[in-house]
Amino acid sequence: MPFITILSIRIKIRLMKGGEEMRITVLLLTVFVAVAFVGSALAVPPGKTVEFAGGAPGKVIFDGKIHADKGLKCNDCHTKIFPMKKGGKYTMADMNAGKNCGSCHNGEKAFASKDAANCGKCHKK
Ligand code: HEC
Ligand code: HEC
Ligand code: HEC
Repeated sequence: MPFITILSIRIKIRLMKGGEEMRITVLLLTVFVAVAFVGSALAVPPGKTVEFAGGAPGKVIFDGKIHADKGLKCNDCHTKIFPMKKGGKYTMADMNAGKNCGSCHNGEKAFASKDAANCGKCHKK
């Protein structure tokens, strides 16, 4: 709980002289905002998954950690390929034409979505 820590540090600093107190408070607020920002960015993808119904061959689980571990950054996907919210509609036809997951899963950047040997890498019963 960085916020609570900062509150208690803040109280101690009150015992110091006026000008000094202002300066340190501004510094602590900056640190707090930075911590909160990094915290929320990390809270999303590694460990985060998105599940798609996937039709007859079974559901598809998109795993943020697998993709982050491959060195992909948020802006490799957001927002030019995917919105930063769940619920987009994606089809194999679009994918095999190089859209959505297929902008990478095309046999060049990653295994090809249209190769029958690969269906089971994404679709699980
Ligand atoms: C390899 C592609 C890829 C990368 C890299 C990626 N995401 Fe995503 N992200 C997705 C997909 C796919 C979805 C789901 C989109 C949909 O359902 O329409 C998603 C969804 C999200 C959502 C919405 C989740 C929800 O519950 O509504 C957030 C927030 C998000 N991503 C943040 C991030 C952040 C932050 C990073 C980087 C640290 C990141 N993503 C990296 C592909 C990616
Ligand atoms: C890179 C991951 C990936 C691979 C590889 C993949 N799919 Fe998919 N597939 C998806 C996603 C994501 C959806 C969208 C699911 C949804 O929105 O419910 C989907 C949807 C589907 C659907 C239902 C919707 C539609 O477009 O028809 C079928 C059927 C399907 N896939 C079959 C296949 C077959 C057959 C293969 C192998 C030749 C395959 N998929 C390979 C990720 C993949
Ligand atoms: C920005 C590029 C990019 C996008 C977009 C992307 N992927 Fe990937 N994905 C990769 C890379 C790179 C790997 C590592 C595997 C490889 O090199 O072939 C990977 C691996 C995977 C794996 C792991 C398979 C295994 O057996 O380990 C799954 C499952 C997967 N992706 C599903 C998806 C789905 C579903 C989508 C769309 C919702 C998607 N990916 C979109 C780049 C991408």
